[in-house]
Amino acid sequence: MHKFTTIITGLALLCASVSLHAQDATIRIHDEGTGVTIPAEIYGQFSEHLGRCIYGGLWVGKDSKVPNVEGYRKDVFDALKTLKVPVMRWPGGCFADDYHWMDGIGPQEKRAYIANNNWGGTLEDNSFGTHEFLNLCEMLGIEPYISGNVGSGSVEEMAKWVEYMTSDASSNMADLRRANGREEPWKVKYFGIGNEAWGCGGNMTPEYYSDLFRRYATYLRDLGGNHLYKIASGASDYDYNWTKVLMNNIGADKGMKGISLHYYTNIGGWVGSKTSATQFSDATYYTTLSKTIEIEEVLQKHIDIMDTIDPEGRVDLLLDEWGTWFDVEPGTNPGHLYQQNTMRDAIVAALNFDIFHKYTRRLKMANIAQVVNVLQAMILTNETEMVLTPTYHVFEMYNVHQDAEFVASDILTKTVKSDRKWPVPEVDATVSRKDGVMNISLVNTDLKKAKKVLITFDNEKAVSAITAARVLTSKDVHDYNDFGKANVVEPKAFKDYKLTKAGLEVTLPPCSIAVLAAK
Ligand code: AHR
Repeated sequence: MHKFTTIITGLALLCASVSLHAQDATIRIHDEGTGVTIPAEIYGQFSEHLGRCIYGGLWVGKDSKVPNVEGYRKDVFDALKTLKVPVMRWPGGCFADDYHWMDGIGPQEKRAYIANNNWGGTLEDNSFGTHEFLNLCEMLGIEPYISGNVGSGSVEEMAKWVEYMTSDASSNMADLRRANGREEPWKVKYFGIGNEAWGCGGNMTPEYYSDLFRRYATYLRDLGGNHLYKIASGASDYDYNWTKVLMNNIGADKGMKGISLHYYTNIGGWVGSKTSATQFSDATYYTTLSKTIEIEEVLQKHIDIMDTIDPEGRVDLLLDEWGTWFDVEPGTNPGHLYQQNTMRDAIVAALNFDIFHKYTRRLKMANIAQVVNVLQAMILTNETEMVLTPTYHVFEMYNVHQDAEFVASDILTKTVKSDRKWPVPEVDATVSRKDGVMNISLVNTDLKKAKKVLITFDNEKAVSAITAARVLTSKDVHDYNDFGKANVVEPKAFKDYKLTKAGLEVTLPPCSIAVLAAK
């Protein structure tokens, strides 16, 4: 594995203590260029028919009193435009393997209605379907990622869905699409063949699923100049055997372009209570961060298996579900997975990005769960108001890294030990370059202390000015944005830096994330 950032910790830190004497951390930037581009898709989103993600989140319908753009909630629509979402996965998650796409096309009043039995038994009236999702993507410039139904669907149903969406021929499905008001086919690149096939997607063995994948993939055709990038339902967490079997039994030759992985930052386990999203001790904060950075080892192990079986790198790894999973907010439907979002979530997001950026040789996409009102959401809504979460702000501040060239750096920092194995770096960073600007994003995980960071460059003349700088922080790590108090945590102009002979000296406030643009 080529790793471009080295975090030097532990023993190495003792040896290097001389160079740290005036600082809490140092970062050396090797600005000769790596030629590695950070795929924009690392900043992907996930939208599922779950709780109020779709209904009341993305979609209110054209007749709603809530201001809307052709049925899409206007405040959310505008916020997503600002975010520059590269790709969005839909309709699930577990919901995908219960979803019959024909329920969601045609006149709204004639659409089938069902109980969403995965998620609290809530009424699903199918008013948001294929047209509504693909048109939203088109309007916002988002690449759609469709998750097909293997668990309770059929090869015929899935093949017809692809035909309906992408065929420009004169055929039943393409004509049905035209009759439903869409003349031109859409372009659909990413197509997932099932979701969590080892669990809610059918409780299969990897061997059985591999055979099913091959069968389904055979009939998902490239039509009308469209090219499908077919994705296999991959492992959860530490299930390395799942990845191994799929890589051996399917592989690129049988149409698998990508294999997915799910990893959640859940510190109470799956059964029973996890922990509150807003009330947690300092120790729990560090436990959360330790659990989140464990993802690096998990990615590495899945990638090692892929490298062994597929040394040419023909199959990509897609982390199509990740993020924090806490208890639902008191008084809300336990099946709706509605949780608040604090500065802790912002730090989790930033640390994950710092890890993802290092593995893009194989890791080509990551979709946080989920975009609105579910788990580590970007946006929370009630009937009339919208709140941007601290996680939204990280995605927005970090979008400078999308499609930018990764710049190698070494970080020398102390770490904090928690009750878990993975020590948490006090300071973390990503450096990238785009359009002649070097963007440096920095994280200080320390809850109490500001950190002095000295950033130096191989090329002393690499940076002569900082042209923009913002910081995301708050007085208390428990702070969050809520209805009526929407701006408690938001990015502000950052001034605590200076360019000196020694390099770029930055003082990061406790529990903060900063992004500096350098020229
Ligand atoms: O994101 C919530 C659920 O978590 C998804 O539906 C499922 O794929 C995963 O278990």
